[in-house]
Amino acid sequence: MTAIASTACRRVWDSRGHPTVEVEVTLANGATGRGIAPAGASRGTREAVDLRDGGGRVQGKDVQGALDGVRTRIAPAILGMDPTDQGAVDAAIIALDPSPLKDGLGGNATVATSLAVLHAGAAAQGKPLWRYIADLNGTTPSIPLPEIQIFGGGAHAGRRVDVQDFMVMVPGAADFGEALEVTNEVYFAAGDIMARKGRMAGVADEGGWWPIFDSNEEALETLVAAIELAGEKPGERVVISLDIAASEFGKDGRYRLALEDREMESGALIEMLGGWLDTYPIASIEDPLGEDDPEGMVEFTRQFGSRVQIIGDDYLVTNARLVSEAAEAGACNAVLVKVNQVGTVTEGVAAFSAAREAGYGAVVSARSGETEDVTISHLATGLGCGQLKVGSFTRSERMAKWNESLRIEEAAGSGAFVGGGPLAGTWWGQNDPD
Ligand code: PGA
Ligand code: ZN
Repeated sequence: MTAIASTACRRVWDSRGHPTVEVEVTLANGATGRGIAPAGASRGTREAVDLRDGGGRVQGKDVQGALDGVRTRIAPAILGMDPTDQGAVDAAIIALDPSPLKDGLGGNATVATSLAVLHAGAAAQGKPLWRYIADLNGTTPSIPLPEIQIFGGGAHAGRRVDVQDFMVMVPGAADFGEALEVTNEVYFAAGDIMARKGRMAGVADEGGWWPIFDSNEEALETLVAAIELAGEKPGERVVISLDIAASEFGKDGRYRLALEDREMESGALIEMLGGWLDTYPIASIEDPLGEDDPEGMVEFTRQFGSRVQIIGDDYLVTNARLVSEAAEAGACNAVLVKVNQVGTVTEGVAAFSAAREAGYGAVVSARSGETEDVTISHLATGLGCGQLKVGSFTRSERMAKWNESLRIEEAAGSGAFVGGGPLAGTWWGQNDPD
């Protein structure tokens, strides 16, 4: 066993230009591991909070307090521990701050450390990270299906449209590389359509086109047109995936669509989204109802759960207990896995395991604030979860993850690509596209 010999940390900057926490762990044999905390903008109220300094400098977002916590509390606690015992290291970190939202140390401090230890463990064993993660968790690696944003919206685009992510998936692709190539064609076809209409205005937070639309439906129509312009038949090789992020525009079962200046109850939102599912080739929908609307989520799942993937993001916040409770109640049928929502790798994997146990799907995901850290590409492959959501097809903090997945696919062999596997039983799997 080679032990953790030292832990260093520093302030680095994320894709929105905000400060974040980087941690570097060095082992006794000289091997190192590094992790960087990402940051969300449309955050669930039950997710781990990032510790930020407040005050007038750098928009109040500095992380000196979080870095102090790594130096003075986390580093001494994990010194000498076995980096390949991720569970024990994470338990030691959690023991320092057992608060449910990790607001003592900050989720940004805990997740960066936990990720650094994960990398160091893989280095200690001389394994590629995805292989190490599979061996650590007893999972079967597979190359995930990418879920890629074409238009940004919601909190990532000044709330220009209510829906946060208009995405495509290519479950009909032969391998990961082909899925990216098809997405590239759709992305630029969408850009052409926007430019022709005089509505090209740059990109949103995750690199998707900035959405100048008169309605959410116009965005959907444009996405279908882009898929066609790319030479594809919507619903065949390419399907649509949406992140409604309804917690951002709803409270206590009442929702306000700002773009259309319309208020509606949960039931009306369910009916509107059901209409979209009937009209467009949508295979997956995330947070269709708000985090505080369990009745709505159960009802939506009851009506549509057999034909579409229903992902809980803000609704489940990568929390194993919430996943199990949702499964019992009949809410959602898949979980978004964002390790920083819960604060450690071990707790993130626990949410994945709870999903597997419940027969739920799982999608490993980036945040809207990202960096060059590519751990999630390895996590999605190593866990064999089947799907990876990273944002769009531009900007290097996104492309770094897609490119890393290409390298992993080359190493693992394209036979490991899951394609439409995880979407069997959904719109794409069940319905005749004609
Ligand atoms: P966030 O958005 O990182 O801003 O929370 C991503 C998502 O909602 O999936
Ligand atoms: Zn989401």
